[in-house]
Amino acid sequence: MATSERIVERRRVFQQYKEDVKERGKPFYPFAMLHDTIMSLVVVAVITGLAIVWKYSTPGDHHTVEPGWLGKLYDEPADPGTINFVPRPDWYFYFLFYLLRIFKWPPTVVIGTVGLPTVLLLILIAIPFIDIRAERRLSRRPVAIVASILVVISMGVLTYKGAVAKEALGTELVAKVPTWAKKEGFAGNQQAIAGAKLFAVAGCLNCHTYLGEGGTNLGAPDLTAEGAKNKGIAFQIKHLQNPASVNPGSPMPSFAGLGDARLKSLATFLEASKGPK
Ligand code: HEC
Repeated sequence: MATSERIVERRRVFQQYKEDVKERGKPFYPFAMLHDTIMSLVVVAVITGLAIVWKYSTPGDHHTVEPGWLGKLYDEPADPGTINFVPRPDWYFYFLFYLLRIFKWPPTVVIGTVGLPTVLLLILIAIPFIDIRAERRLSRRPVAIVASILVVISMGVLTYKGAVAKEALGTELVAKVPTWAKKEGFAGNQQAIAGAKLFAVAGCLNCHTYLGEGGTNLGAPDLTAEGAKNKGIAFQIKHLQNPASVNPGSPMPSFAGLGDARLKSLATFLEASKGPK
């Protein structure tokens, strides 16, 4: 069908629609409004009901982390020193999350996360202007059907892949720990090794360098031979807890949240790092 014919057809259908409305239509007030009001009240009532069940089905004094029928009220207090937290989006963003793994920073990530979704959205907006036929039977709209099925399948697959994706949080750096231990000669010191693993995942290497790994930021010194300064475990712990208290004006953030045991391991590792043998 040529475009002009299509437009004529569309006008005819629209005319028909207006006549149908006149003959059989119902006014917005009160019919649609009543309908919307009842549905909104039902939704609010369901949410309120769920909130009440959630709160009052929780055992104890409501301040425990024991789950009630609909899950627990409170989570454990956040641990700022956690080293195995894996940031993940809610499940309905898994498909976008997985796109970020397919498209790697920097060359293709803009295409994958901004370009592709924008093109798809523009196509969606354009569809009413392209597909102006009055046909609504699914069997006569193969392109639309195939496109929707493909969208559902690809989002499903991406969501699944996102859900089962494993995180490689700092694992590349942790894998270097045995090499570090050998080069620096602390392979026999379990606490130093634990500290080295912590060092690899706690973000220290965002500012510091160590045996050629990491990046220099804010003028942070190389730590390959930090132990050769012989500042001592106590100094290292104090510095990690509050860098500015021992090195005035230090822009290094406090790592007190790691807790005493982990700071001790880090300090042991730093003091054991006397430079490559
Ligand atoms: C945001 C950047 C940054 C991060 C992250 C960071 N540091 Fe630092 N660090 C610095 C800067 C800047 C200095 C120099 C000023 C100072 O000594 O406090 C420094 C100094 C140090 C020193 C030398 C102290 C001395 O006087 O000999 C040690 C040891 C150290 N950092 C260990 C660590 C460890 C371990 C971590 C991770 C738990 C870490 N840093 C994370 C910026 C950072």
